[in-house]
Amino acid sequence: MTSRPGERERARDLLASAGRVLILTGAGISAESGVPTFRGASGLWRNFRPEELATPEAFVRDARLVWEWYGMRREAISRCEPNVAHLAIAEWQLRDTNVGLATQNVDGLHADAARTARRPHAASDADGSEPHGRLLELHGAIFRSMCASCGIRSDHREPIDASSLATLPRCSSCAGLLRPDVVWFGESLDPIILERAFRWAEEADVCLVVGTSAVVQPAASLATVTRDTGGAIIEVNPERTPLTSVATVSIRDTATSMVPAIVPTLPPSGRPPGSASKI
Ligand code: APR
Repeated sequence: MTSRPGERERARDLLASAGRVLILTGAGISAESGVPTFRGASGLWRNFRPEELATPEAFVRDARLVWEWYGMRREAISRCEPNVAHLAIAEWQLRDTNVGLATQNVDGLHADAARTARRPHAASDADGSEPHGRLLELHGAIFRSMCASCGIRSDHREPIDASSLATLPRCSSCAGLLRPDVVWFGESLDPIILERAFRWAEEADVCLVVGTSAVVQPAASLATVTRDTGGAIIEVNPERTPLTSVATVSIRDTATSMVPAIVPTLPPSGRPPGSASKI
């Protein structure tokens, strides 16, 4: 994979001079960590039908099958580590509180990278610059579960025994059936998360889009909101997507080779925090 000469430099310059940046990621940023993508040659949707496994109707119809599939995905993802692209973003967010991250991924690798990046800085951020606060998991988190009866959410990393309905995970509060705390097809995203993501997109001078086919709404619209409010779009993806033709810079390359190469490595130079300077 090789990007055209000058694109890397152009992307780096745009990001270095941006006041606020929104990063939007998809399954492609985790592909090199071993997490399968959804579409494309070896994508999950090649082998499984989303309507059979990732809808509320599927869960009502056969909760055991749905948990069997999510249990398999959780087990596979638990062996995956954040890659250099996740880490470069996490370290950038530590240096610059004007960098927001909205991910479509439920694998938790951005949160893992944020914990890894913070480890040398044990003290918590009194100024609210905690990167987790600037990480929006638009489609939920596969290692969090929600009670299908009372709605209580909880971190949930135990292995799933999907051998029968009786062995499926239950709510510790009301004994209702737990479900994965992810957004299924036909469900709405959390309105508070969505409102914050679109506000960040409007305020951003640059939207850096990494590893998404940009076909699932509303996430796919975030980048065009940045552009429509005077900002720039940078895309990193080995393939073309619907964003390619409207991107300011579109780089045909992989996340691990390009993200560490273009994210600013120095703290913002003297820019007052939150200084929006639409490019
Ligand atoms: N680096 C960067 N991008 C990559 C890499 C890589 N190493 N490998 C693959 N890609 C790109 C592919 O070219 C593709 O455009 O990542 C993109 C992955 O697209 P999808 O599989 O469609 O995943 P995503 O865009 O995240 O899907 C959005 O769809 O099924 C729902 O909820 C699910 O969050 C998911 C949403």
